[in-house]
Amino acid sequence: MRVLLTGHLGYLGTVMSPILQAAGHDVIGLDTGLYAASVLGPVPVDPPALPIDLRDVTAADLQGFDAVVHLAALSNDPLGALDPELTYAINHRASVALAEAAKEAGVGRFLYASTCSVYGAAGDGLVGEEAPLAPVTPYAESKVWAERDILAMTDSDFAPTALRNATAFGFSPRLRADIVLNNLVGHALLGGEILVLSDGTPWRPLVHAADIADSFAAVLAAPVDNVAGRALNVGDERNNVRVSEIAEEVARAVPGAGVRITGEAGADPRSYRVDFSALREALPGFACRRSVADGARELVAAYREFGLDRAGFENTFVRLRTLQARQDTGELTEDLRPAQP
Ligand SMILES: NC(=O)c1ccc[n+]([C@@H]2O[C@H](COP(=O)([O-])OP(=O)(O)OC[C@H]3O[C@@H](n4cnc5c(N)ncnc54)[C@H](O)[C@@H]3O)[C@@H](O)[C@H]2O)c1
Repeated sequence: MRVLLTGHLGYLGTVMSPILQAAGHDVIGLDTGLYAASVLGPVPVDPPALPIDLRDVTAADLQGFDAVVHLAALSNDPLGALDPELTYAINHRASVALAEAAKEAGVGRFLYASTCSVYGAAGDGLVGEEAPLAPVTPYAESKVWAERDILAMTDSDFAPTALRNATAFGFSPRLRADIVLNNLVGHALLGGEILVLSDGTPWRPLVHAADIADSFAAVLAAPVDNVAGRALNVGDERNNVRVSEIAEEVARAVPGAGVRITGEAGADPRSYRVDFSALREALPGFACRRSVADGARELVAAYREFGLDRAGFENTFVRLRTLQARQDTGELTEDLRPAQP
């Protein structure tokens, strides 16, 4: 298939491009490169791309594509809190406009990167796709509204799927140190201590970045009736873990590092355990394969090999810090467009 991959210069996109290419797809990216220079290790080979802001895409840009895989977004809660209106503009309105443009251009499939954080404060029971949505941040709200409006466009010619990804972990050349496992491994290696700011009790479903990429490739290959118009949780029940267990797994991967649970961040309302059986039923033969322990070992090896340092850990690989730094130097405008020279 000829696939437009938005967000191809992000953490997940940089892992997903080669996986979609290896599956035989002709991948064209679309990304304004907010973090394109935030690379740990060798610089990746990126696919060719359309240099267009998500907010400016028209149906004419999407002619000739068989599928759109839509990752581009302001990708976490702190970014959403920075400017809720900008989060709604990019994550909700521009995402819906992209799907409308794709439908108008005759693109058959649309894979939307949603998140398990749409479930918000779900408690201890397992939540499936039919569970009530209880987003607790502007980021999660923007994802709920985008998937609602995009899935409503389903018809016999247009097959959107919302993939509700668990929180990702694992190495990507465009690393993120602001997601929980990647963050705790950094604390362990650089400070000898695995610092947990919550009380450690919240449940978090985790999934390896490469398993997310594999699941998107599997959705593209699936019979359209299995996936059209559906929301699917992406992950595996074995990786439904408490934050304290994640910390213990990191301690096993970094001998000598101790766990310190401070609780200083107060109660964390984001707690949910997720049921991933619908994904396995929709994609026979597919399963997320990588464990939290696998990810911790992989990250330790990569951080050591590529020399992750404190500046990288605290700034370069923290999405919010990178955006603020690029706004401070005048490279990016307030609404996150490249400043005109
Ligand atoms: N990483 C996770 O744990 C996780 C979990 C669930 C869902 N997701 C979703 O997956 C997607 C990718 O996440 P990620 O971790 O790779 O995030 P990321 O921040 O690393 O990448 C997002 C990419 O989108 C691009 N982008 C942002 N606004 C844009 C715009 N207006 N025009 C063009 N490009 C723009 C950025 O330049 C960046 O390369 C996001 O939609 C995110 O919400 C991620």
